[in-house]
Amino acid sequence: MNMQQTADGAAPSPDLPGPSDGGPGRVPHHVACVMDGNGRWAQSRALPRTSGHSAAEATVIDVIEAARAAGVGWLSLYAFSTENWGRPSNEVDFLMRLVRRVVRKHAVFLHARGIRCRFLGVTDPRIPPKLARDFDDLMTLTGDNRGMTLTVAFDHGGRRDIVEAARSLLRSNTPAESVTEQTFADHLPYPDTPDVDLVIRTSGEQRISNFMLWQVAYAEWVFPPVLWPDFRASHFLECLHSYRQRDRRFGGVLPNEIGEPRL
Ligand code: IPE
Ligand code: IPE
Ligand code: MG
Repeated sequence: MNMQQTADGAAPSPDLPGPSDGGPGRVPHHVACVMDGNGRWAQSRALPRTSGHSAAEATVIDVIEAARAAGVGWLSLYAFSTENWGRPSNEVDFLMRLVRRVVRKHAVFLHARGIRCRFLGVTDPRIPPKLARDFDDLMTLTGDNRGMTLTVAFDHGGRRDIVEAARSLLRSNTPAESVTEQTFADHLPYPDTPDVDLVIRTSGEQRISNFMLWQVAYAEWVFPPVLWPDFRASHFLECLHSYRQRDRRFGGVLPNEIGEPRL
């Protein structure tokens, strides 16, 4: 699919014209969000932290719509980390119930928008079987969609994915000298996932927090101070705007920077 084409073939947002070819109007092909700040959002309102998680639902839908309309091809959302199991059990249980409700509630909307949904992680036996089944059902329902791919990282850890890839590689008896970055990446979950171009981490925190470590190797990062439940489509478009201002060098030198060496 042309990166400028939206999932249902609609024209991209007029805010974001131009090709995704590295030119000034480029749209990141793969955007990933660390959805952070729910607890602080609630605490600043003297509400329980769980209210912040509930309020995050509206942002998630807004961002999915904004990304799709902008012509983003891949959107990844960090919803629950392997480290988040260490939170109080009432918060963890709440999140399991909330995510199940959100997935069931929005399944038809996501499918109607031509979005292909995937869940990255989801290996811990503490995940309620009903929730895992709902994830599977949504993946099956939307699996043939050719619009934006939405990856929800749930019970995800970047290091765990890398360790699992190493195990898988060893089991495949690949000779050590044949292992390249590409063959290694082929053993990661969803090996067709393109490198992340832009990571948005809300709430002002500036950490990776074990998120898609392999895929973010050369991503651009933005850290909007707004808390995730207050983050809206307009903030998302501002992040895309910041991305467009960046020079991506990938370790090289831009053509306009190449000059004759001075002796
Ligand atoms: C992110 O918000 C949501 C999850 C990690 C599930 P937080 O719950 O981390 O919110 P803060 O960082 O405590 O404000
Ligand atoms: C990262 O946020 C995980 C998710 C957004 C799902 P955290 O709030 O858990 O990360 P730390 O603890 O600040 O690193
Ligand atoms: Mg946090």
